[in-house]
Amino acid sequence: MPEMRQSSLVVVANRLPIDDSVAPDGACEWRRSPGGLVGALHPLLRHTPATWVGWAGGAGSAPALPDVDGVRMHTVALSRDDLRDHYEGFSNATLWPLYHDAVEQPQHHRRWWEAYQRVNQRFAEATAEVAEQGGIVWVQDYHLQLVPGLLRALRPDLRIGFFLHVPFPPPELFMQLPRRAELLRGMLGADLVGFQRAQAAHNFAQLVTKVLELPATDRRIGIDDRVVRIGAFPVSIDTAEMAALAARPEVAARARRLRRDLGDPRQVILSVDRMDYTKGIEQRLKAYSELLASGDVKVRDTVLVQVAMPSRERVGQYQILRERIEREVGRINGEFGRVGEPAIHYLTQPFDRAELAALYRVADVMAVTPLRDGMNLVAKEYVAARVDGAGALLLSEFAGTAAELPEAYLVNPHDLEGLKQGLCAALRASPTDVGQRMRAMRAYLHQHDIRAWARSYLSALDEAGALINRLASTDGTLDGAARVPAPATPAASPATHHAGG
Ligand code: ADP
Ligand code: G6P
Repeated sequence: MPEMRQSSLVVVANRLPIDDSVAPDGACEWRRSPGGLVGALHPLLRHTPATWVGWAGGAGSAPALPDVDGVRMHTVALSRDDLRDHYEGFSNATLWPLYHDAVEQPQHHRRWWEAYQRVNQRFAEATAEVAEQGGIVWVQDYHLQLVPGLLRALRPDLRIGFFLHVPFPPPELFMQLPRRAELLRGMLGADLVGFQRAQAAHNFAQLVTKVLELPATDRRIGIDDRVVRIGAFPVSIDTAEMAALAARPEVAARARRLRRDLGDPRQVILSVDRMDYTKGIEQRLKAYSELLASGDVKVRDTVLVQVAMPSRERVGQYQILRERIEREVGRINGEFGRVGEPAIHYLTQPFDRAELAALYRVADVMAVTPLRDGMNLVAKEYVAARVDGAGALLLSEFAGTAAELPEAYLVNPHDLEGLKQGLCAALRASPTDVGQRMRAMRAYLHQHDIRAWARSYLSALDEAGALINRLASTDGTLDGAARVPAPATPAASPATHHAGG
């Protein structure tokens, strides 16, 4: 067997940054994986001597992948049973709904839990093989909550971080989980457990006290002879990269063309979501439909572009959601559209970054109204793309982003009347008000970008800074992201990283 190459930084996530998909001509091709986790980490790690451990999409054997932008890909194979029981089952039909306020009913099956343990063990073993002695391992998200504990048992020499991209629920909800103690213990295998919001760290500390009877504050937890630190680290985007893309003349030209193709309406409303019941798409459509019915919004004047990329398509709740959304879009277009003038332009295709940037530039109102969202990077991408300083962001109070961008037009998406009023307020706001809000949000995101996120998390994980400075001395993107202050400067405690949350 060839000797395994090892890295001093290993990122472990259920998904690799690319996955295989079938092109229209039937050929297999690789494309960027969906979702915010990959969107955040991929630009960050580019040209960093790191290894990314994950699943490449599809069932069966693990394909050997070439490096992607200088990052080594280490594939973990998942069988059909693993996909059904670990990915679709425990991850996306138990944990995902439970962590998002149980807006859909979480399901519990013992077979799913067995698969969750088995797959987490496989990820831990794969990581143990590729991590250099004394290296840093950064485990991501809810699919892999047992990995920190399993990995510590295999490789106590490693510095282990865990970051949860989704909300961490209040105790009343988490307590429903039959295997709650094991999940908490798994996360406590890490040296640092990071959340999007301070409230999530607080929920975690409360649960650890209640379920495991361990001494816990919102910053530190004592377990065995170790201290596990916890804190909030709101994830972000590559603000400068999105701004530079949106500023390109061809993107601006594409935005003008899109507006023409949309019939030169006075106002364009845009929503871009993974097709997920947490995103509040149905509630938004209902609000829009009622505004059309009451005449507050008129089709010739205003157009809604709804991008809804299909997601987790084998999970029953997602299939039902898609059917309901498509029926509703059809109804609204049938009732309110005209020939050549639909009320909603509905698109389910993946777009490249330039096309997304052009869409953001054409949107007078960006409607981001999830029922619950760990962060929501689409909202941040929109703000970054508005290099012209215009554009109104309508944002749900229940997105992590709302704690960071209070200048958005905030709405409660569960309140239909409030949602309608918010949409009207954003559509009718004065350019001065819109511009002031956008300026404040852009200034915030300029400072709080993906590199700032990595810097705050990794410097908290690696207090001494030795490992991270070694990584940062290479010529990569992580350079500047992760460089840790000289030892004379005390490392900040995780709790100081809270950004409003
Ligand atoms: P989630 O992580 O729940 O999917 P986020 O809003 O945090 O939600 O992240 C979604 C990411 O997916 C963003 O980076 C967004 O640009 C990207 N995205 C969403 N829809 C599409 C699409 N149709 N084509 C390409 N990228 C998309
Ligand atoms: C969210 C999750 C990610 C996940 C992404 C896409 O962002 O936090 O972990 O990768 O959604 O979902 P999928 O099921 O396609 O990986």
